[in-house]
Amino acid sequence: MTGLGDLGRASDSSIESERMILVTGGCGFIGSNFILDWLATHTEPVVNVDLLTYAANPETLASVSVDKRYAFERADICDTAAMKAIFAKYLPRAVIHFAAESHVDRSIHGPMDFVRTNVLGTGSLLEAARAHWKSLGDDAAAQFRFVHVSTDEVFGTLGANDPKFSEHSRYEPNSPYSASKAGSDHLARAYFHTYGMPVMVTNCSNNYGPRQFPEKLIPLMIVNAIAGKPLPIYGDGMQIRDWLYVSDHCSAIRRVLESGAPGELYLIGGDAEMPNRDVVHTICSLLAKHRPGTDYTKQITHVTDRPGHDRRYAIDFSKIERELGWRPSENFATGIEKTVLWYLQNAEWVAHVQSGEYKTWIEKNYKERSATPA
Ligand code: NAD
Ligand code: DAU
Repeated sequence: MTGLGDLGRASDSSIESERMILVTGGCGFIGSNFILDWLATHTEPVVNVDLLTYAANPETLASVSVDKRYAFERADICDTAAMKAIFAKYLPRAVIHFAAESHVDRSIHGPMDFVRTNVLGTGSLLEAARAHWKSLGDDAAAQFRFVHVSTDEVFGTLGANDPKFSEHSRYEPNSPYSASKAGSDHLARAYFHTYGMPVMVTNCSNNYGPRQFPEKLIPLMIVNAIAGKPLPIYGDGMQIRDWLYVSDHCSAIRRVLESGAPGELYLIGGDAEMPNRDVVHTICSLLAKHRPGTDYTKQITHVTDRPGHDRRYAIDFSKIERELGWRPSENFATGIEKTVLWYLQNAEWVAHVQSGEYKTWIEKNYKERSATPA
């Protein structure tokens, strides 16, 4: 565990031992949006535990790094001793666990990083959380919560006419990423059933919105389009994803934290199923509206498909709607326009994350895919 100097306060005794939450992976896409939303709407402090891998961008949290309610610990969730020390220092009343290796294509190139972080890391974090939970008095232990953030990809793939995924869907992961997330979900479930620890699991669809690392479909297409680069659609582009605006995902997690039942699974979706081709064409139209003068669709190319590519994901989120009163507030048209505008207005953020490592990854992932113009 190491401090982060000017990127955030590694330790501030003034917030230790107050009622607070612990977030892992808070310098990534969803975690950073969650922390910014949390500090804007709650008084309760938050400690962010992040290893700062390639996917992290501490600059995203620069605005809160001087906030007295925010603390940062650079640490690896696989390091159980470091995790135990952090729990002992901050005594969190809840954990929101985002930290993971999250990109499917990277898991195809290097599955063991995913096994390590997602399976071993979640196991190690659960162990540290259990030691902390066991040390609490009866009331505090009963109120303690561990929210494990997972993905719809653990349920595999759907045919065009199959019913949507629900809390009753079978686990059928198809990629090293989704298999490692499935492993972490099973560990989380086991800590509830074996030890009675108040764990809840959320499985959501594809998030999009501000501050997403441009290796994923939507930000990659936006930044490539602006830079005049090819827009590489895998295969026929008719794979369907359900798109969830990131602030809606964050509000759903807050509902689960506040009122979810321990031991339960909650599926979270955006009510926005769409083929990838349509997503890319929508981005091209919005860029033509807000940055006119270019026909961005001319940059679209079809490239060799992803191995084992899941065809369709869709989410039935009626359980969280019925039991916790949550539903998404953005539709895809409003969410994607906000997203495109954010990337247009934050060119500096984009330039900073396109480091040497980013260039190496883009080269590795796309160089061997043959391309044909759309
Ligand atoms: P991300 O890749 O943007 O960020 C992951 C963060 O975790 C980074 O800040 C990274 O530094 C940190 N991290 C990685 N390994 C770590 C380790 N060993 N110890 C400590 N920190 C570590 O991920 P994201 O897109 O924000 O996803 C967050 C979570 O939500 C993940 O668990 C992911 O599986 C899940 N999820 C994501 C989506 C999506 O569309 N992005 C959808 C469903 C579920
Ligand atoms: O469903 C939830 C999951 O969504 C999360 O668990 C993952 O962490 C997240 O990365 C995301 O996984 P996907 O594989 O669906 O997202 P990605 O943005 O990588 O790809 C979305 C779709 O776009 C998918 O069908 C593959 C396709 N694609 C992706 C890229 C990067 C392309 O056609 N071209 C590309 O260059």
